[in-house]
Amino acid sequence: MPVQPDPLHTLPEALPVKLSSLPRQYSVQTGNNCLPQLGNACRAVIPPDAKILLLTDTIVAPHYEKIVRDSLLKAGYTAVVTCTIPAGEHSKTIEQARQIYTLLVNAGFTRKDAILGLGGGVVGDLAGYSASTYHRGMGLVHVPTSLVAQVDSALGGKTAVNFAAVKNMVGTFYQPLLVYSDAAVLETLPPDEWSAGMAEVIKYGLIESSCVPGQTGFFEWLCQHAMAGTLKENTAALITRCCALKIAVIEADEFETKGIRFFLNLGHTFGHAYEALSHEQQNHPPLLHGEAVAIGMIKAVQLSVQLGLFPPSVLPKLTALYQGVGLAHCLCDPFAFEAGALLKKMKHDKKNRDDLFIQLVLPNGRPGQVCLKKDVPESVILDVLRLPG
Ligand SMILES: NC(=O)c1ccc[n+]([C@@H]2O[C@H](COP(=O)([O-])OP(=O)(O)OC[C@H]3O[C@@H](n4cnc5c(N)ncnc54)[C@H](O)[C@@H]3O)[C@@H](O)[C@H]2O)c1
Ligand SMILES: [Zn+2]
Repeated sequence: MPVQPDPLHTLPEALPVKLSSLPRQYSVQTGNNCLPQLGNACRAVIPPDAKILLLTDTIVAPHYEKIVRDSLLKAGYTAVVTCTIPAGEHSKTIEQARQIYTLLVNAGFTRKDAILGLGGGVVGDLAGYSASTYHRGMGLVHVPTSLVAQVDSALGGKTAVNFAAVKNMVGTFYQPLLVYSDAAVLETLPPDEWSAGMAEVIKYGLIESSCVPGQTGFFEWLCQHAMAGTLKENTAALITRCCALKIAVIEADEFETKGIRFFLNLGHTFGHAYEALSHEQQNHPPLLHGEAVAIGMIKAVQLSVQLGLFPPSVLPKLTALYQGVGLAHCLCDPFAFEAGALLKKMKHDKKNRDDLFIQLVLPNGRPGQVCLKKDVPESVILDVLRLPG
């Protein structure tokens, strides 16, 4: 029998995800201070005699590994093995996955057992990749601990490792049995990682009505809370709202074949170019992915304004929002990047399926609404790349 929840801790809200592929349905549970109840939630999807590999990283482990392990033991699991990988993107490799396979083999894990990924997107992507390939697929639970992972990477079933210096080169689509998010764990997240996650949150505000037709208000909600300085205390609500939007997109376009999932790419075609150059050039510190997306969204809005698709009056609101979430440094272009070099990177973006055109998601009409554009002249894109933030 699962243990009764401790009434002192908030029970998470469960959002169902319905899919055409297995497991057909799973839930994304979001709450505040709900981590100690994780074991109970797992009991609904993982049999009590299953072994669990608790995969985490060196920064997350000291904060939360014990809480998670204790919760699993309390819920009746007896075989919980922890694997702690070095924190950071450089751990997202086939070599790291190979070490996980070795550990799974040595500990006698089978298909009925599970991997529980406790960490940011790096741990989540590696946990997902390893779980999807070991024995052709074993149980997977995501317990995302960064804002990026809670609103983005833990949802959607994409798993990956980096290969041959290309990010996410090798991967699978593999859905978890459960996603379990506790907003309270973000208290230990470094401020720049929180701000980078907020860029993805703002993205949801700018694509909301295109994800869920008729739904509006998230962008305004964000602006109001940023102005009032009340975003942090509303983090759980904010995460739930983003998850509901991403779930709507996944349900409508599970395998990225219908064009709907592409909306999630707002700011990313521009952003990937800034991100890549910041890693190549010595004159700028490497940008976090979210920071690059924040710059990319400004560029997308500027381009929409230039094309007459979007009211210029939204730009100051977006600027104020960036200032409120610690992304003000993503407003001061030109970032020492040359427009021609950025355009070249944009043309070779992996998500740009058609090499001849740059496919862009652009704000359209009002915040929340976007459109897909393939025919923007390069000269106009270059003009926008040269504009200050
Ligand atoms: N699968 C997808 O759909 C998808 C989507 C977006 C991003 N991603 C991937 O996610 C990764 C980025 O995710 P990320 O930003 O979470 O990076 P990350 O996992 O490297 O986490 C960022 C840093 O924060 C630390 N951290 C995480 N949670 C913490 C906490 N609660 N307290 C203190 N420190 C904490 C981590 O140890 C790490 O140092 C990239 O590899 C990206 O490719 C995948
Ligand atoms: Zn992103």
